[in-house]
Amino acid sequence: MKILVTGGAGYIGSHTCVELLNAGFELVVIDDFSNSKPTVIEKIKTITGKDFSFYEMDYLNRSLLEKIFKENEIGAVINFAGYKAVGESVEKPIDYYINNVSGALVLLDTMKKYGVKKFVFSSSATVYGEPKKIPLTEDCHVGETTNPYGTTKLFIEQILKDIYRSDSTWDIAILRYFNPVGAHESGLIGEDPEGIPNNLMPYITKVASHELEKLSIFGNDYDTKDGTGVRDYIHVVDLAKGHVLALNKLDKEEKGLFVYNLGTGKGYSVLDIVKTYEKVNNVEIPYQITERRKGDIAIYYADPTKAKEELGFVASKTLDDMCQDAYRFASKK
Ligand code: WQD
Repeated sequence: MKILVTGGAGYIGSHTCVELLNAGFELVVIDDFSNSKPTVIEKIKTITGKDFSFYEMDYLNRSLLEKIFKENEIGAVINFAGYKAVGESVEKPIDYYINNVSGALVLLDTMKKYGVKKFVFSSSATVYGEPKKIPLTEDCHVGETTNPYGTTKLFIEQILKDIYRSDSTWDIAILRYFNPVGAHESGLIGEDPEGIPNNLMPYITKVASHELEKLSIFGNDYDTKDGTGVRDYIHVVDLAKGHVLALNKLDKEEKGLFVYNLGTGKGYSVLDIVKTYEKVNNVEIPYQITERRKGDIAIYYADPTKAKEELGFVASKTLDDMCQDAYRFASKK
């Protein structure tokens, strides 16, 4: 039985493919390279020494998707495909709803047609909207998402709950990511956004490698220890390993729909990240304090207890690892 990985050439998808191959799974990977590069496929093979089927395609293409299910014995699907830039989603909501929500529906409908009912979904802590309490647990209120990207994740989670309610023979794991950062220790794969990064870690990395002049810290007047925003940064390799654990649970245990936070349970401020990055990489990160970014929230971090108890998931990599691995990838590009 093979695992179909959509968006497998992307940042989190590629790291998860490495861990799945290392765990002995056979993969079928699809990607349209709208936010990734063809070289990533070869790098996954180099890192693991393993081969797998790859199709360059848009997962919205139903006939091509059916061809994959006809030609391969698919046992489960992990869905990473989707646009993920918060700011872009505000400007292009239709593109985001078509690609993320319609894409998921075409995928799920095709799975149903071919009797494949094990599904792991790449969701996001963004579904919690403005947190009512911190740290965030999976039973916290979801909704009032502040951008179309987050709303697509919320909609797909609801679609999955409705599917499970209609047919409890589905096995579904919804994984809510906090802030994925870092790169594989080989430096061969990592976060490689086009243009000016929206997110903190890739922006800092471009400042460190002198591609950008200085970091703008969006506000230092939040109610946090140093006034800058606090987030739950999780190493992308820890996050990838969480997917293997989720897949094993769907494979081996009772049927159901499961929701897990994938975070470390620790919150770090923007200044913590800057200082750690400078220390471990022996670089300077010039910065200026600017206005708050619209829609930003002061503090966001996970209570990872449920994933630990039910999946055996514990993020092991440190902030030093995250900063070191991010910089190594950028230096090797
Ligand atoms: C982190 C902190 C900023 C950039 C987003 C998405 C979320 C998920 C992760 C996909 C905040 C500050 C940032 C900069 C800064 N993506 N910052 N200067 O906003 O927590 O989450 O990415 O799933 O869905 O919402 O991440 O890295 O953009 O910001 O000061 O140039 O860094 O204010 O406090 P965020 P981020």
